[in-house]
Amino acid sequence: MTAPNSTSTSSTSYDTALQRSQKIWEKIEKDPSGLRMLTGDRPTGALHIGHWFGSLRNRVRLQDAGVETWLIVADYQVITDRDVIGDIQGSVRELLTDYLAAGIDPERSTIFTHSAVPALNQLLLPFLSLVTQPELERNPTVKAELQAAGKSAMGGLMLTYPVHQAADILFCHGNLVPVGKDQLPHIEQTRVIARRFNERYAGGVEFFPEPDALLSEAPTILGLDGEHKMSKSRGNTVMLKMDEAETLKKIKKAKTDADRQITFDPEGRPEVSNLLTIASQATGRTPEDIAEEVGDRGAGTLKIFTAEALNAHLAPLRARRAELEKDPGYLMQVLRAGNERANAEADATLQKVREFMGMVY
Ligand code: TRP
Repeated sequence: MTAPNSTSTSSTSYDTALQRSQKIWEKIEKDPSGLRMLTGDRPTGALHIGHWFGSLRNRVRLQDAGVETWLIVADYQVITDRDVIGDIQGSVRELLTDYLAAGIDPERSTIFTHSAVPALNQLLLPFLSLVTQPELERNPTVKAELQAAGKSAMGGLMLTYPVHQAADILFCHGNLVPVGKDQLPHIEQTRVIARRFNERYAGGVEFFPEPDALLSEAPTILGLDGEHKMSKSRGNTVMLKMDEAETLKKIKKAKTDADRQITFDPEGRPEVSNLLTIASQATGRTPEDIAEEVGDRGAGTLKIFTAEALNAHLAPLRARRAELEKDPGYLMQVLRAGNERANAEADATLQKVREFMGMVY
């Protein structure tokens, strides 16, 4: 879902985005009409609780509040930072299952894969004419991803994927993009592209909206080994699809410290505080309150508390997940319907773009 290294965005633009997000949240509560959210993920497999607490839960909330919802399964983006595509069918299926299990409703929301929407991808061409090489090269998130991938040379697709992402957002005139902090440079790039398109090709007409990022207040969940973030490859996660026993086992193995008095101190005691954060997210209680309840009974008690809270919280999602897994045909049907809707939208947008550019023959 969101990429590593989120510290590279300058703190001022982060603060501005955060303030703006708070205003948008207020608007959503009053009147969500006119808002169209587009967000999504690279399909790299099933999701974990970091995804759920950090973004997926938020999307379901937006959908339920009446915001028009578009979710992109960004399959082309998988090959920006790796050479092997891997089991893409399986990854897409897992992602789709988690979306639906989480409460994304295919009747109200559109889920699609961008490889299935040619007109979306074609927007990349005019959009590329609106950006410069230095602009692309200074994108801090792309630089961080290159480093994280351990590659020395930047691939063409990796360098331009923020432009591709602009096409993901603008093809459907998305104006609201719920994302993590690391994605802010891409949203800024999207705004620049929209502005330049409108000026350069649309004669000043506001054809593409300049979308807003919507940041959530969800705290970051660290890996259970105390690492910066949960990642499936490190095995330091609780996956949404795990059962209760596996969840307990994972949490029991989490790194903690030797102080039996449980306190919420994210700076000084990141691992213990991370468990408290998870328990807090699962129960809706404050981490301090949970720390006080556990008291001096140590990390073992905290772990059992956290695992039980998490299992109770995830039970409805997991029950839906188990049902969905039995019906792969249904999942494909949902995806095909989403792709059809996305294609209709993208075709109409591309047609307009061609008209603006005098390229209708
Ligand atoms: N780049 C995003 C990520 O790595 C995924 C993504 C692709 C996305 N297209 C998008 C997010 C459009 C928001 C909007 O997590």
